[in-house]
Amino acid sequence: MTDKILVTYATRYGSTQEVAETVAEILREGGFEVDVQSMRTVRTLEGYGTVVLGAPLYVGKWPKHAHRFLLRFEEALVKLPVAIFALGPIHDDEDEILGSRVQLDTELKKYPWLKPVALEMFVGKYDPSKFHFFDRLIASMPASPIYKMPASDHRDWVAIHIWAGKLVSTLQPTPAR
Ligand SMILES: Cc1cc2nc3c(=O)[nH]c(=O)nc-3n(C[C@H](O)[C@H](O)[C@H](O)COP(=O)(O)O)c2cc1C
Repeated sequence: MTDKILVTYATRYGSTQEVAETVAEILREGGFEVDVQSMRTVRTLEGYGTVVLGAPLYVGKWPKHAHRFLLRFEEALVKLPVAIFALGPIHDDEDEILGSRVQLDTELKKYPWLKPVALEMFVGKYDPSKFHFFDRLIASMPASPIYKMPASDHRDWVAIHIWAGKLVSTLQPTPAR
């Protein structure tokens, strides 16, 4: 048996990684052994009893490397408890959250074999000063929903702590394969 948990994340600008690290810390405080790793660098799920996946939404989609991770590790993931969190809307706004939730559900439908034991979406961070070329281009277009949108960070650390705390009590790690 192993109680070891992998918290793995996809990120473009680091905010999902920071949430993943916080979730990992809370799981550790709950008595689990936890590794935190980018989805880009995970080579095997051997030795893990549970996987926590965190990924942001960009233009309605998960990043490509999140999809690659799911395709690559499907066989292992179907046998393990998997918890998922997404970073989505930029503002703590009901309509925005609902829209992002629809986007997340659409992404999840692509993986009918994925049956998360826990699923949550958190409001994200928006920092145009860090943008790579393509996002700067999107943000510079007057028709874009993020045109001239100021930087913000509405990540709700209390909600993140509560979700991770619940995971500590609900996760039932299975034997590693
Ligand atoms: C160009 C751009 C497009 C985005 N599109 C969406 C979106 O379609 N749906 C959504 O919920 N959030 C969207 N977001 C918000 C991000 O998911 C949020 O900023 C998240 O915290 C980014 O995570 P990261 O820092 O780990 O890359 C977008 C952000 C940017 C910069």
